[in-house]
Amino acid sequence: MEHNANAPGLDESVEPSDIKMRARDVSIYYGAKKAIDEVSVDVFTEHVTAFIGPSGCGKSTFLRALNRMNDTIPSARVEGTIELDGEDIYASGMDVVQLRARVGMVFQKPNPFPKSIYENIAYGPRIHGLAEGKGELDAIVEKSLRRAGLWDEVKDRLTDSGTALSGGQQQRLCIARAIAVDPEVILMDEPCSALDPIATAKIEELIDDLRGRYAIVIVTHSMQQAARVSQRTAFFHLGHLVEYGHTSDIFTNPREQRTQDYITGRYG
Ligand SMILES: Nc1ncnc2c1ncn2[C@@H]1O[C@H](COP(=O)(O)OP(=O)(O)O)[C@@H](O)[C@H]1O
Ligand SMILES: [Mg+2]
Repeated sequence: MEHNANAPGLDESVEPSDIKMRARDVSIYYGAKKAIDEVSVDVFTEHVTAFIGPSGCGKSTFLRALNRMNDTIPSARVEGTIELDGEDIYASGMDVVQLRARVGMVFQKPNPFPKSIYENIAYGPRIHGLAEGKGELDAIVEKSLRRAGLWDEVKDRLTDSGTALSGGQQQRLCIARAIAVDPEVILMDEPCSALDPIATAKIEELIDDLRGRYAIVIVTHSMQQAARVSQRTAFFHLGHLVEYGHTSDIFTNPREQRTQDYITGRYG
């Protein structure tokens, strides 16, 4: 494999059809400050890709660029290219609302709408016109809650407020809400950091299940979690992508000293 300083670990021999999202030479600024420096990463279909690295290294900034959530931050500016199925998501014709349905997002703190469990799921499909009538909408709500592993716990209380659920249930509700609009990619920014170990284990199991259908990107500060749930890992440090590759290689045989230092807990 050619070594590419801007794309450490990128395996150019991978079949392009397996690549769901392709970022090339992406730099992200907040005003004059560069938070991400020429990062190139591929996100694969039916894979979990983990972004790891010390706090402040740019993981969330880069993750938000993948569905143009940075657009909502006035000082943020993105350079380079990010493609979804080969299409430039920053092209002028891109429908950002549609993009964020195709590339859904789940945040660190569960953020259900202050509405019923049913409405939390039905809202997206309704505004995107995905259901014709109540029967279809009900079916989407059930399917989404089932896929998120929440149906059995909430099927008898769909009219209760989403905010009345436990933290772990709320996070699965947010995952169901992302699923409801039929995404291709799901971005998760430290989705377990507000949860207890049991709720965390449930979300990790769920992520493993969902991998069969979606490309998943997870930011995590837990290296154990990255090792457990992901197939590819990208290690960020100070806005740079230090190393990117198969998770097993990153954790057992990293090529870079900085990766080695981080995974052995020498800094963080
Ligand atoms: N909205 C913002 N405005 C200005 N600077 C920001 C903003 N968000 C993040 N940053 C800065 O960008 C850098 C990367 O932050 P972030 O992406 O949140 O890192 P991580 O998720 O790895 O902890 C940090 O220096 C942070 O202070
Ligand atoms: Mg972050």
